Amino acid sequence: MASGQKIPARMTAIAISEPGGPRVLKPETRDVPQPGPGEILIKVHAAGVNRPDVQQRKGAYPPPPGASDLPGLEVSGEVAALGDQISRWRIGDRVCALTPGGGYAEYVRVHAGSVLPLPAGFTHTEAAAVPENYFTVWHNVFERGGLKKGETLLVHGGSSGIGTTAIQLASAFGAYVITTAGSQEKCDACLKIGADRAINYREQDFVTAVKEATEGRGANVILDMVGGDYVQRNYEAAAVEGRIVQIAVQAGAVASADFSKIMVKRLTHTGSTLRPRTVEFKAAIAATLEAQVWPLLGTRKVAPVMDMIYPLTDAWRAHERMEEGEHIGKIVLDVG
Ligand SMILES: NC(=O)c1ccc[n+]([C@@H]2O[C@H](COP(=O)([O-])OP(=O)(O)OC[C@H]3O[C@@H](n4cnc5c(N)ncnc54)[C@H](OP(=O)(O)O)[C@@H]3O)[C@@H](O)[C@H]2O)c1
Repeated sequence: MASGQKIPARMTAIAISEPGGPRVLKPETRDVPQPGPGEILIKVHAAGVNRPDVQQRKGAYPPPPGASDLPGLEVSGEVAALGDQISRWRIGDRVCALTPGGGYAEYVRVHAGSVLPLPAGFTHTEAAAVPENYFTVWHNVFERGGLKKGETLLVHGGSSGIGTTAIQLASAFGAYVITTAGSQEKCDACLKIGADRAINYREQDFVTAVKEATEGRGANVILDMVGGDYVQRNYEAAAVEGRIVQIAVQAGAVASADFSKIMVKRLTHTGSTLRPRTVEFKAAIAATLEAQVWPLLGTRKVAPVMDMIYPLTDAWRAHERMEEGEHIGKIVLDVG
């Protein structure tokens, strides 16, 4: 292992002391992890907070085998040490990375294929808000959903970290973007970042609104994090040959739906979860993002929508904010 500045043996990390509410997130002193072959050690400056961290804290989303038990799926920072077989990265490089866990800490061990350079001109707190949402949206909207220029994307949860990313990327790549959100303030925020139409789902039926906005055709791709009764309604809002991509089921994993719509409209209903995928799969997405999306981040044609930044030791407050559901965009931890 090659390392630059002296790396301490111990570090501060935020652990889940037991499954439960935000207050179970407690600072602990842990051993600094050692990078293995093909891995690098990052000195973390900022860590993104994501809904799956909340699920993990509650005991509903256990880390995949081999991953850290600490929460945290994305970080930005500096390369502090290199494992064997690393050619691209050097000690001191400013990077951001997707992590399979362990991001809420001063140091994290990451596979080199999940690491990307800091987008040009980005602060660490901004860069930490990028990986989890950009990897997820790229794969699900553009690869699974096959969204093309000129098509219509319907994004549910438009003001979420995922939603704001999907709106910006789809709009940047020439799609017509319709989104749903739970308040006028959230709808306004979605319109400001490029949504063509924002539907307050508490006041208006999104199926009717999507049909109106598309002259009856419906949406070509639907990114859904809701599930439950949205399954049937997505089938109704979809265009012929539409693709519905499920990335979460916050309103329920079990639903009753009229599956004849799938035949009549020739729909595809698919979905995925990012965290348990192989390092090779993540490296392939990283390479595509660097080629296609990093230039857009560098010119700020797309950029994470920042909500709040908390110190690492206040991670519980960050989770409280996320669960209150008032946030728009990304919540980030400043690790120092
Ligand atoms: N599959 C994957 O690989 C993957 C990866 C990352 C994240 N995700 C999932 O993607 C979702 C967004 O993640 P995030 O970190 O961006 O979270 P977030 O910022 O907390 O967003 C959650 C969003 O869900 C919406 N929502 C929740 N319940 C709803 C309901 N019953 N009806 C309509 N909208 C509802 C909220 O919209 P309102 O506030 O407007 O109600 C909010 O915008 C989460 O469910 C997360 O688990 C999946």
